[in-house]
Amino acid sequence: ETNQSWGGRFNEPVDAFVARFTASVDFDKRLYKHDIMGSIAHAKMLAEVGVLTNIERDAIIEGLNQIQQEIEAGAFEWRVDLEDVHMNIEAKLTERIGVTGKKLHTGRSRNDQVATDIRLWLRDEITRIQSEVIRLQQGILDLAEREADTIMPGFTHLQTAQPVTFGHHLLAWFEMLSRDYERLVDCRKRVNRMPLGSAALAGTTYPIDRLVTCKLLDFEAVSGNSLDGVSDRDFAIEFCNVASLIMMHLSRFSEELVLWTSAQFRFIDLPDRFCTGSSIMPQKKNPDVPELIRGKTGRVYGDLMGLLTLMKGQPLAYNKDNQEDKEPLFDAVDTVADSLRAFADMVPAIQARRENMREAALRGFSTATDLADYLVRKGLPFRDCHEIVGHAVRYGVENNKDLAEMSLAELRQFSDKIDNDVFAVLTLEGSVNARNHLGGTAPTQVKQAIKRNKELLAKA
Ligand code: ARG
Repeated sequence: ETNQSWGGRFNEPVDAFVARFTASVDFDKRLYKHDIMGSIAHAKMLAEVGVLTNIERDAIIEGLNQIQQEIEAGAFEWRVDLEDVHMNIEAKLTERIGVTGKKLHTGRSRNDQVATDIRLWLRDEITRIQSEVIRLQQGILDLAEREADTIMPGFTHLQTAQPVTFGHHLLAWFEMLSRDYERLVDCRKRVNRMPLGSAALAGTTYPIDRLVTCKLLDFEAVSGNSLDGVSDRDFAIEFCNVASLIMMHLSRFSEELVLWTSAQFRFIDLPDRFCTGSSIMPQKKNPDVPELIRGKTGRVYGDLMGLLTLMKGQPLAYNKDNQEDKEPLFDAVDTVADSLRAFADMVPAIQARRENMREAALRGFSTATDLADYLVRKGLPFRDCHEIVGHAVRYGVENNKDLAEMSLAELRQFSDKIDNDVFAVLTLEGSVNARNHLGGTAPTQVKQAIKRNKELLAKA
């Protein structure tokens, strides 16, 4: 027999390295608060159904609360030989309150306990991540409001395509984050189901009332099958999937910020506090925060892939493999929360270099489509207009002149349908103002979209 809580059937103590190798306390101690929360609810339920006396229940609650304080004061000694957060806390409880502490685990297994803890913990983290998404969205709307009239080139294939407003571009980011927020809400619903009461795998012989613990822990529902309850980690995979999409979006934003701060674009400035220098090149100001977020995206994809792979070969029900669920999940939560936080701090501080954006939009024949649309309004079929404007652009490339810089006579070489009213169409303002419909880039539309989105955020 060994001194381990499960040592009854063992003839020799576990190998010292195996003890360390199989222990999870170094990382799962992070679940302590939710572990205690779950245990208190379990003890209350056991008292309610008569398995514990009220005196025993109160001693357990009192002991657990003290342990929580001790942990939070940094005075708790975590023991690797006690394997995980659950047995560390339980052992301490028994040390504190004596034999009653040993009754806490009645009708429960670490299998349903850990599944419950992770869900309780992740539920809180999702709430925190949701509030960072909202804060970032708020910052995007404020910046979009300041830049609703700012004109920049819009790109396809990273080639100048058509003029857009910077506010409009920023609202595209906002939309991506709105979908991410919806996904978090949806994912949280499936996180918020209670496996507690599944016990090891088959349920328990005690007259437990799962609806009582469910209510105490504010879960939305109990899991419907004890085998599934202890072995389902879909919710963690789903979260990592949502986190991967958020990181993918932040990575795209980052890529744009890196491009825009470069000497080749000069569209924006990031304040010094979000950048660092070079140890060799004195002139350097590097956009480290967006670069690092772009880089961190890979870790979260790795976390997702790791969890999918962790689960794919597991027969029902609990297997020790599942202990490997925590580190990727913790990493994904930390990475996405920190990245959102950095972005939310940084976005309101972005300084648009409006003149440079405008100058870039004036280059690259960004109003060529407007000229084609103009000719359509003069009665020509679109394909012919496309060809006419193509000729005009070729002439412009050869003579180093944008369309708006050509004289009426020059333009009329390509079509006699072109009149003096063409110049209103070839201006940047004319171009963006003309795209005046729901979801279009016209400043009036952008301002309306900002207003709608502000109302949306106020309701979130
Ligand atoms: N530390 C374990 C985990 O993280 C707790 C559950 C262990 N259960 C067991 N029967 N070994 O999954």
